[in-house]
Amino acid sequence: VSDVWVDCDPGIDDAVMLAALSGAVGRGRVRLHGLSSVAGNMPLDVTTANLLALASYLALPHVLVARGANRPLVRAACDAAHVHGANGLGEVEIPAGDRALANDSAVLAMHKAICLLAPARRMRLVAAGPLTNIALLLRAFPDDAVRIQDVVIMGGSTCGGNVTPRAEYNIWADPEAAHMVFASGVPVVMCGLDVTLRSGLSAEQLTSMRDGDSERLCALARMLSFYKGDPASWPHGVCVVHDAVPLLYVLAPDLFQGVRGVVEIGLGQDDRGETRLVAAGDGADAGVAKASGNATPSNALVLSLVDALGFQKVL
Ligand code: BDR
Ligand code: CA
Repeated sequence: VSDVWVDCDPGIDDAVMLAALSGAVGRGRVRLHGLSSVAGNMPLDVTTANLLALASYLALPHVLVARGANRPLVRAACDAAHVHGANGLGEVEIPAGDRALANDSAVLAMHKAICLLAPARRMRLVAAGPLTNIALLLRAFPDDAVRIQDVVIMGGSTCGGNVTPRAEYNIWADPEAAHMVFASGVPVVMCGLDVTLRSGLSAEQLTSMRDGDSERLCALARMLSFYKGDPASWPHGVCVVHDAVPLLYVLAPDLFQGVRGVVEIGLGQDDRGETRLVAAGDGADAGVAKASGNATPSNALVLSLVDALGFQKVL
């Protein structure tokens, strides 16, 4: 059973991931140590309020909820209100709930949680937003790199982007943070658009969520309808839930296949946020392969295949 800290920017698909997380914690499939917010889909005040509200609404355990970075490391703040609605949750209102913010910042709270586990166990960081908090953690506490098992991210793509022709939103939003995380030496598992666009909920699942007895599932289904609209427009016939995929990887890695290699993060004006797999292999040494040019040295597992039906069962 993995020990996890979840960092996110709710966000509709973040909300669905948190619902799946609540179920996984309840069934003892994962040990949750804390949650943190980051600016991404919406400004930090909104993602933080949404995270607190969702933690309560979705009956997540009473773990730390910490406030993270309010802007990317270098770039101007951005948001995706056009995708997630003015409140970040598809205009679906949920109660504010009973949770309070931790006194510590996300970076300090994560660091303390990681140190509490070490050396016996290592934390897995699940990141469903821009990587700002994780980059700041590794800069402030570089010794934590060896105490972290891996950083499992929703981000990146080797098959085309969703912000620019080749950049995915979370990496595009804070590419310098992504560069720092990929270059840190901590193993990164990249759940990019390569896998997130190929897996998700079926139309039948969405209908039964919407029409069933559970108010929570109904609220999530309404958010998803706002987010993904008409099933006729779904890629591969599924309602994509990007952020649930890194959690799914933690719970059921066997559903995935991937390539180990060196990922270069685009930091320029023309290639901002691109994730280029510049050296790949499946041997034990692949993770330390030398890339040509100015590649970010990285130890990444780039997921390339997912069992879409398995996804629906686990979720
Ligand atoms: C990612 O961007 C955000 O809008 C979603 O929440 C997800 O984390 C998809 O590119
Ligand atoms: Ca997100």
